[in-house]
Amino acid sequence: MSVLLTGGAGFIGSHTAVEMIKAGYDVIIADDLSNASPKVLDRLETITGVRPKFYRIDVADRAALEPVFRDNQIDGVIHFAGFKCVPESTKLPLKYYRNNLDTALTTLEVMEDYGCKAFVFSSSATVYGEKNVAPFTEDMPTGTATNPYGTTKLMIEQIVTDAAAANDKLSAVLLRYFNPIGAHPSGLIGEAPNGVPNNLMPYITQVAVGKREHLSVYGNDYPTPDGTGVRDYIHVVDLAIGHVKAMDYALKHTGSVAINLGTGKGSSVLEVVRAFEEASGVQIPLVITDRRPGDIATCYADASRAKALLGWEARYTLTEMCAHSWNWQNHNPKGYDD
Ligand code: WQD
Repeated sequence: MSVLLTGGAGFIGSHTAVEMIKAGYDVIIADDLSNASPKVLDRLETITGVRPKFYRIDVADRAALEPVFRDNQIDGVIHFAGFKCVPESTKLPLKYYRNNLDTALTTLEVMEDYGCKAFVFSSSATVYGEKNVAPFTEDMPTGTATNPYGTTKLMIEQIVTDAAAANDKLSAVLLRYFNPIGAHPSGLIGEAPNGVPNNLMPYITQVAVGKREHLSVYGNDYPTPDGTGVRDYIHVVDLAIGHVKAMDYALKHTGSVAINLGTGKGSSVLEVVRAFEEASGVQIPLVITDRRPGDIATCYADASRAKALLGWEARYTLTEMCAHSWNWQNHNPKGYDD
């Protein structure tokens, strides 16, 4: 079975490539490398012994994507390609709507033209919005996202759901990720954000490696046990295995279904910092600051549907997630740059 990973050179895509290859899939990657490094391909080959076929293309460009389908018998697509920086999406909403919607629409159209039926989409827990109360279940009404990035995830979920309702050959799984952290245990692939990281774990690892002075903790007056925000952190390798199971499922079913990929357990910012300090032996200086606009107090999954439908459960602990994030950052202080 051949599977195309759009955006497959990125953080989640590259870890998914490893697990798909391990599971016996032929992996093809299409990525324009606008936010990823070509070195990922060498690293994937070192980890798996297989070099995935690679197309450096923008999948929103139909003329560039069609030959990928013409030249390969593609059984399914896992669609990661898209912009993902929340604050940038607020500053440049048109850029986000144009890119994220175009990459999804063109991929779905070309799949239809070539009779490719299985689609797995990289969605986000951000679709639950601000009003639902955790644990989030997939049949809760989705909310209003607090930023254009999140709105593109909601819109694409709707597009995919409508497309699957209209085409009984299409099978779609909408994977709602909680907070992916960690890295491959080899330390060869990991998260390599451009510039100042927006997310908690890459910020912590950059403080640990001496690149940043301290971590700003965005508020300690939330209605949570220690006052700091609670999230469902999930190891990126567990998340990647969830994609393998989702593609296995999509190839055997029709229709569309949303599935949470989380651990079902929330951890506060201070708990993550403590777990990181224990795993790395490095102290992280903290400064408590104001809340960050758009943040909610508590976000964690009800992970039971993934277990029931996919037979999938997260396995890694928070300490292991921190140890692997640190192993990656410590061995690659500049990410993929030399
Ligand atoms: C986690 C917790 C912060 C940074 C976002 C997007 C989501 C998804 C993942 C991705 C919160 C606190 C953070 C810092 C802090 N998108 N924090 N200091 O906000 O849950 O989810 O990323 O591509 O759509 O919304 O993740 O890692 O930014 O924050 O105190 O420097 O850490 O307030 O409680 P978030 P995060």
